[in-house]
Amino acid sequence: MAKDNKLTFQFLAEPTDINFGGKVHGGAVMKWIDQVSFACASNWAGGYCVTVYVGGIRFHKPIQIGDLVKIEAKVIYTGKSSMHIMVDVMSKTVVGDQPFTKTTHCIIVFVSVDKDGAPQAVPEWIPTTENEIKLQEYALKLMNLRKDIEEEMAPFK
Ligand SMILES: CC(C)(COP(=O)(O)OP(=O)(O)OC[C@H]1O[C@@H](n2cnc3c(N)ncnc32)[C@H](O)[C@@H]1OP(=O)(O)O)[C@@H](O)C(=O)NCCC(=O)NCCS
Repeated sequence: MAKDNKLTFQFLAEPTDINFGGKVHGGAVMKWIDQVSFACASNWAGGYCVTVYVGGIRFHKPIQIGDLVKIEAKVIYTGKSSMHIMVDVMSKTVVGDQPFTKTTHCIIVFVSVDKDGAPQAVPEWIPTTENEIKLQEYALKLMNLRKDIEEEMAPFK
């Protein structure tokens, strides 16, 4: 059976996820993003992975405590050992027919590692649909933009 490049989690935002403003804490959202994308990347790699980069997290809208949260993670590009995962976080009230609203978007890059923590090869993701090809181009564009950002940041690292 072909490997699935996507993974979706759904759960309720709990009162323990609250921030000082009464909404879901940004740190909780980042933890969920890390967990879902880790599961997606590990499943694709068929083994343990570590995060090498998290970029461009944009919090579009707050999530209310008690909301149904849906997190979709998908592999959109693979290098030799790296997997670029696009993550979308959505939420909606539990009761009612309204659709999910996107609250957060980011790209997170994982590297598959061996037992000594060294990078190892991952299965290649080959996009086939128009949308998958577009997403791979998006990942490649961001990768190039990141080179400039890393150059700017280098003196401060
Ligand atoms: C991730 C890690 C294993 C990479 O090791 P490394 O010796 O730097 O490896 P390389 O330079 O060969 O890079 C490995 C891959 O990471 C990618 N990578 C490195 N820096 C990157 C960055 N800033 N953004 C995106 N990808 C990056 C490389 O492009 C390469 O991908 P490819 O094999 O698909 O071409 C190592 O840096 C590490 O262990 N980091 C700590 C990870 C960690 O603790 N994460 C948090 C908890 S999970």
